[in-house]
Amino acid sequence: MMSRNMLGSSSRLMRQCRCNASTLNSKAAPATVSVVQTEMPDCDFQPPQYKGPSYDNIKELRKNHLTPNMTAYYKKPLLMHSGHMQWLFDHDGNRYLDMFGGIVTVSVGHCHPKVNKALEEQIKILWHTTNIYMHPKIHEYAQRLTAKFPGDLKAVYFVNSGSEANDLAMLMARLHTGNQDILTLRNCYHGMSPYTMGLTAHSTWRFPLPGVANSIHHVMNPDPYLGIWGGSKCRDSPVQTDRTCDCNSETGCKAADLYYNELEQTFKYSLPRGRVAAMFAESIQGVGGTVQFPKGYIKKAAELVRANGGVFISDEVQTGFGRTGDHFWGFEGHGIVPDIVTMAKGIGNGFPMAAVVTTPKIAQSLGMALHFNTYGGNPMAGAVGIAVLDVIEEEQLQKNSLEVGTYFLKKLAELRDKYEIIGDVRGKGLMIGVELVSDRTTKAPLGVPHVLEIWETCKDMGVLFGRGGLNGNIFRIKPPMCINKSDVKFAVDVLSRAISEVLSKN
Ligand SMILES: Cc1ncc(COP(=O)(O)O)c(C=O)c1O
Repeated sequence: MMSRNMLGSSSRLMRQCRCNASTLNSKAAPATVSVVQTEMPDCDFQPPQYKGPSYDNIKELRKNHLTPNMTAYYKKPLLMHSGHMQWLFDHDGNRYLDMFGGIVTVSVGHCHPKVNKALEEQIKILWHTTNIYMHPKIHEYAQRLTAKFPGDLKAVYFVNSGSEANDLAMLMARLHTGNQDILTLRNCYHGMSPYTMGLTAHSTWRFPLPGVANSIHHVMNPDPYLGIWGGSKCRDSPVQTDRTCDCNSETGCKAADLYYNELEQTFKYSLPRGRVAAMFAESIQGVGGTVQFPKGYIKKAAELVRANGGVFISDEVQTGFGRTGDHFWGFEGHGIVPDIVTMAKGIGNGFPMAAVVTTPKIAQSLGMALHFNTYGGNPMAGAVGIAVLDVIEEEQLQKNSLEVGTYFLKKLAELRDKYEIIGDVRGKGLMIGVELVSDRTTKAPLGVPHVLEIWETCKDMGVLFGRGGLNGNIFRIKPPMCINKSDVKFAVDVLSRAISEVLSKN
């Protein structure tokens, strides 16, 4: 069996790539790209031997028994067997650097020993009772979690997934305000339940059913890279777009104002006068490809929503728990205190749990009828949630996200200078996007076959990236927050080598 370390230094990968990029874009890369070789960082963890069904058997089972639309990454999907911190091991023992963390979910590291221990201890005492009885963990955790919020955000409702959290937030907003209409930004993703599917604004994620987007309005996305306005000073990121912009501290962000004017049009023309239930926004769009908004837009939008009787809902499913580095919650980077916050994914490091945090007043709206969730906040979820918060604090993972993420972004910006097919690098902390284009001026997405080739090549070299955006041409980098600078060097080197290799072939 060939170990991943051996693969990383195989002669195929040692080759210096000569680039002739005629098919992709004649300006896509310099004629010869010097390719640095970085070895995969060491890891002293030994995964247990895989003893499950054979690879082919698993493929058969998947084909025969799982839903046919279940996506699998890669031409030859990986059969994952074991995980340790930022590393994943397949059934053959090959090691991969996980730059996607189970879709932004493994926040503190695969099988983190402290989280494992907390869950093991809880499993021995009590799994589940439902909240018809009191048990300590949900109370302890509610106290710990709400302590992380500013202002009056002190009431928490536990659920099991991000979609459920957003469903509940929609319900609360409508009950509390007595209004029906909800606004979201185009290119957003808020879930796949029948209720939240209507919030999500991607045609690729929409089933053709009547009523899905009842009373939901998708407004212009304030995207400083792909949108019609935006420039080199708009983003709260160490890396800016290559568009110029003459904003300054006196004028403020003009793009934010222009996009805000568009939002106002929706209030004027599409809503009952002065009546909106809510506006939802991810603090940085995740599935949409790590899209950041011009500075100041979210703050003004929240004020407009409130002035029209609505509440502002921050979806922190991807951006929460320190991922953006400078703050614990993404909304803090926008200088707002939302009325409702939804969270999932990183909250449980992979344990299925989620939550809605709001003010006691808004929470009271649910008192109009019975409302119940069987598993929400059960003892296991409470134990995991507390351990995750402990680890984030003890290991200073928010600070690590900031330092390592900023380093990552700067290294990726160097790659953008080197390869024309990298149109944009953006993000904050360890919430990063790399947009691949076939033409830097038109920003036309790089064709799917080329994107896939680069992405598969990275996997073959031992680095797993996510993909996103409507056209699937944005690499999403959202690893467990325990990664270090050696991991970054390796990942950036692999991406560079993969691009070089694919350009040289095309
Ligand atoms: C921002 C955001 N909100 C909500 C969801 C839905 O979460 P879940 O898949 O747990 O239902 C997701 C999932 O990717 C998400 O990224």
